[in-house]
Amino acid sequence: MANLETKYLGLNLKNPVVVSSSGLTNSVEKIGKLVDAGAGAVVLKSLFEEQINHEINNSIYKGEGVDYPEAIDYIKGYTRDNEVGDYLNLIKGCKEKYDIPVIASINCFSADEWVDFAQQMEAAGADALELNVFVVNTDKNIESAEYEKLYYEVSKNVAKVVNIPVSIKLGLYFSNLVNVVNKLSVSGTQGVVMFNRFYEPDIDINKMSMTSAEVLSSSADMRRTLRWVAIVSDKVQNVDISASTGIHDGEALIKQLLAGATTAQVCSSIYKNGPKVITEMIEKLGSWMDEKGYDKVSDFRGAMNYGKITEPGMYERAQFMKYFSKYE
Ligand SMILES: Cc1cc2nc3c(=O)[nH]c(=O)nc-3n(C[C@H](O)[C@H](O)[C@H](O)COP(=O)(O)O)c2cc1C
Repeated sequence: MANLETKYLGLNLKNPVVVSSSGLTNSVEKIGKLVDAGAGAVVLKSLFEEQINHEINNSIYKGEGVDYPEAIDYIKGYTRDNEVGDYLNLIKGCKEKYDIPVIASINCFSADEWVDFAQQMEAAGADALELNVFVVNTDKNIESAEYEKLYYEVSKNVAKVVNIPVSIKLGLYFSNLVNVVNKLSVSGTQGVVMFNRFYEPDIDINKMSMTSAEVLSSSADMRRTLRWVAIVSDKVQNVDISASTGIHDGEALIKQLLAGATTAQVCSSIYKNGPKVITEMIEKLGSWMDEKGYDKVSDFRGAMNYGKITEPGMYERAQFMKYFSKYE
C-alpha cells in the first residue's frame, strides 16, 4: 500500500487531505468525526480580527478603529464575550484528544494590534496559523501594489511574534499572483492556501433585493485553482501550496497534487457528502498510486505543473484561442 504521508508547513500529516476552516471545524466533537474519517489535518473555523479586538480593549464599542460607524452595531451583535477564550479552549481540546495537526485560523483585514494574540494561539497548542486576509478594495485611488502591502505586513508582523508556521489564504483577485506569492514567501509565510471562496452577492430581480449566491462550491470551481497551483508551484519553490475550492473527490485531490499542491483542503464536499468523503478520497489516492506504481506522494507531486508538462501553454493564454475556436 502506498505511503500517503505528507509534509505541510513543516508538519507531518498522515495524508494530504486537510479539512478547510468552516463550521465543520468549530467544535471538538465535530472534529472527532473528521479525525475518525482519516483527515490529515484540520483548519479550525476562523476567529475574526474584530472578535480579537473586542476582547483586547472593547474599542469597537466606542467606535475606535472602525471606519464605518454603521458597522459598529453589526459587530456588537456579532461578537460576544469570551469568544477568544472559547477559541483557545477549542485548540487545547483538539490537541488533547487528537493526534493530527491543528491549524488555527484568523480572518483579518489589518496588520495591527490583534497580531500579538497569535502568540496565545501558539501557547494553546496550535501547530500552525492560517491567516485569511479579507478586504474588498473599492477605492479607485489606491494602487494595487498599495493594497498588496497589507498581505506582506500581516505575514511579517505575525511571523515576528510566533514560532509556528504561518500560511496565508488568498483570494483569486491579484493582477500578478505569482509575484504576490513570491513576496509572501520571503516575508515569513511558509504556505499559501489557493483560494478562498468569498461570499458572492447576487440580485433577486423580482424582489429587487440583494441575495447571496450558493454558499457551497461545485466540482467545476476547481479548475481555476488547478491552473494557478500548477503555475505557482513551478515559479515559487519555497512555499507550500494548499489547494482549495471545488475539491470534491479523490480525482480532484490527485489532480491538485499533480499540479504541485502539497495538500488539498476540502469543505463543501464534506457539507454535501459527510465526513465519509474524506475516507473515499484517501482510498482513491492510495489505489491510484498503487495502480501507477508510486510509493510516496513526493514521487508524483508537481509532475504536471507548469514547468514539467511539454505544453505549458495549456495553463496559459495560448490555449484560449484553441478552446473557443471549436465553437463556430
Ligand atoms: C459554511 C462555510 C463556512 C466557512 N467559514 C470559513 C471561515 O471561517 N474561515 C475561512 O477561512 N474560510 C471559511 N470558509 C471557506 C472554506 O474554508 C473554503 O475555503 C471554501 O468553502 C472553498 O472550499 P470548498 O470548495 O471545498 O468549499 C467557509 C465555507 C463555508 C461553506
